[in-house]
Amino acid sequence: MKTIKLVLLLTLFAFAANGQEMKGVYLDDTKPVEERVEDAISQMTLDDKIAIIHAQSKFSSPGVPRLGIPELWMTDGPHGIRTEVLWDEWEQAGWTNDSVIAFPALTCLASTWNEDLSLLYGQSIGEEARFREKDVLLGPGVNIYRSPLNGRNFEYMGEDPYLASTMVVPYIKGVQENGVAACVKHYALNNQETDRHTINVNVDDRALYEIYLPAFKAAVQEGNAWAIMGSYNRYQNQQGCHNERLLVEILRNEWGFDGAVVSDWGGVHNTMEAIKNGLDLEFGTWTDGLTMGATNTYDSYHLANPYRKLIKSGEVGTEELDQKVRNVLRLNFRTAMNRNKPWGSLGSPEHSRAARKIAEEGIVLLKNENDVLPIDIDKAEKIAVIGENAIKMMTVGGGSSSLKALYEISPLDGLRERVGTQAEVVYARGYVGDATGSYNGVVTGQDLTEVRSADELMKEALEVAEDADYVIFVGGLNKSQHQDSEGADRLSMDLPYNQDKLIRKLAGINTNLVVVNISGNAVAMPWVDEVPAIVQGWYLGSETGTALASVLVGDANPSGKLPFSFPVKLNDNSAHSVGGFPGEDGQVHYTEGIFVGYRWHERENIEPLFSFGHGLSYTTFKYGKVTANKTELNPDGKITFSVEVKNTGKREGSEIVQLYIHDMQASVARPVKELKGFKKVSLQPGETKTVTFTIDKTALSFFDAEKHVWVAEPGDFEAVIGASSADVKSKIRFSLK
Ligand code: BGC
Repeated sequence: MKTIKLVLLLTLFAFAANGQEMKGVYLDDTKPVEERVEDAISQMTLDDKIAIIHAQSKFSSPGVPRLGIPELWMTDGPHGIRTEVLWDEWEQAGWTNDSVIAFPALTCLASTWNEDLSLLYGQSIGEEARFREKDVLLGPGVNIYRSPLNGRNFEYMGEDPYLASTMVVPYIKGVQENGVAACVKHYALNNQETDRHTINVNVDDRALYEIYLPAFKAAVQEGNAWAIMGSYNRYQNQQGCHNERLLVEILRNEWGFDGAVVSDWGGVHNTMEAIKNGLDLEFGTWTDGLTMGATNTYDSYHLANPYRKLIKSGEVGTEELDQKVRNVLRLNFRTAMNRNKPWGSLGSPEHSRAARKIAEEGIVLLKNENDVLPIDIDKAEKIAVIGENAIKMMTVGGGSSSLKALYEISPLDGLRERVGTQAEVVYARGYVGDATGSYNGVVTGQDLTEVRSADELMKEALEVAEDADYVIFVGGLNKSQHQDSEGADRLSMDLPYNQDKLIRKLAGINTNLVVVNISGNAVAMPWVDEVPAIVQGWYLGSETGTALASVLVGDANPSGKLPFSFPVKLNDNSAHSVGGFPGEDGQVHYTEGIFVGYRWHERENIEPLFSFGHGLSYTTFKYGKVTANKTELNPDGKITFSVEVKNTGKREGSEIVQLYIHDMQASVARPVKELKGFKKVSLQPGETKTVTFTIDKTALSFFDAEKHVWVAEPGDFEAVIGASSADVKSKIRFSLK
């Protein structure tokens, strides 16, 4: 009690750095936040207010020193805490204490289908952010996977709104437990990098509400995200960062968002719209707030002098300003001014373990004919590892998510370490892809220069592979431009650098071939039938090599499933066949509507290469028949489905049981089925567990764009239980009254 009183006294009556006395309810953290916010506002001048709604450096905004209100520090996000950059430049500042744990990319997190791991991810990255004294983490990203060419898909959580919504919430909670805000990005419709600052997205309301918005809504309403980042693209011919419909009508009015809207860096293009349309905090890529040129000062930002001028001249009032200030102060009280937040930690063994666990659970075993995997290291004498991605560091590059990792274990090193002296591990590069290795002054330190010709490299690889007991090819994409990287999209779905040819040759000389595809996107696999085992390896961060090795040798039993479909070819994807990608003359049309990913494949009967939700295990599971606790669902009731799942193999393993809903008759076009539930269950050999799913009519609803309401039409439905969207185990019919 005494301590509380003392703290109260100190907080109600304190001195700012300049010795000025600070007084007020806003300092009293026993008082409700709204009361404190209003009190702080009442003490602020116009200049104070204008100052806190725009950047003062690349990643910070000022506080109100006179009132003892601290600065706000932002950081990328979303896979680790970005290196410190110079005040005005993207170049790294050269600190020696800003190296971090690189966590797996969000595609990998989504592939775990494990909410506990999403929480662990958020808590761990939040602790690193705290330790680095950051207030706002720029992430997670939940833009829907519309095309396999989007250069930033690796930063997002896949093609399904239910999966992304479910997985984003615990991440946010975990981050915010640390007194660090999650800034969910990029709101909204940022589904490509081509023309990202100008492209105008034309999408119908049904697709907007059913596909592109749910993960943001969940982030706001269930995750209680304290911040959200506007997107670069335009929608209804207005920039995402000052978009009336998205930010005012939907985010604030429909969803009741009480956090702060932060612009994407340089995403603000119009002062009046920025004032009127719900933006709170402007950040920029160059010091004039725009994307090019570095000459002006932060005072030229739209929400700086231009705004002040309009207020002074009486052209706009101060109502919007106070609202922005309120939102920014609330963010500040929740983060920078929160005195009860933990200290955080950086590069801890716990964070390494978290990164490894997430990586192991997110790796997806796509194919495993003849049980080639796991590698039997007791029997193997020689393991050939081929491919540039077996040695290439991937935490550096790719745009704003680039990191300075404390360490990054390569696939080759991870495997060598695990195999030890039990077998010889021989390496050949096989091809040259991207030999560079730096981003904003952060260098990998790897020298990947290669003087030999492509033929020589291929020859060496084939020689090494010929008499090996196993050939592990580690290839895929990387973080260079036109691969998995910000600012540009991929140019095709094919593997680059002639890898297809090499893979085919390897398959021709050794039947124990495993292809590990490192990417954040689907790639074409014209050799799929020639290769017995395929592993989707994502970008796994610091623990890449250890996680991959444990899956390859079987210490960890793979349990990840795909968060997006792998089409056979680009034209099998709806954005490319009927929609438009990346659009023309500044316009992109999402003509495919709600039929994104598996929703399209199923409607059109196009078999994917690997379906949404697909992933194998080293054990086998047998599903029972799904049952329901009733046959009829009342409009305000609930219905529960149960299904038994048995581990019929010889080792422990986890299965992700998926519930899809099929609307048997509807007044509008509906997908064949949609994901509405999933559970990951761990089973010992021989063990059976009953998995249950309880849903209500929201799981049956579609968005009626005309009436602007969610509608569940009475009639018949099916609950479909699958091991993937394509692997249906059983169904049960029920009806909605
Ligand atoms: C990216 C954001 C990022 C910001 C700050 C922008 O270019 O689109 O995702 O958070 O830069 O680095």
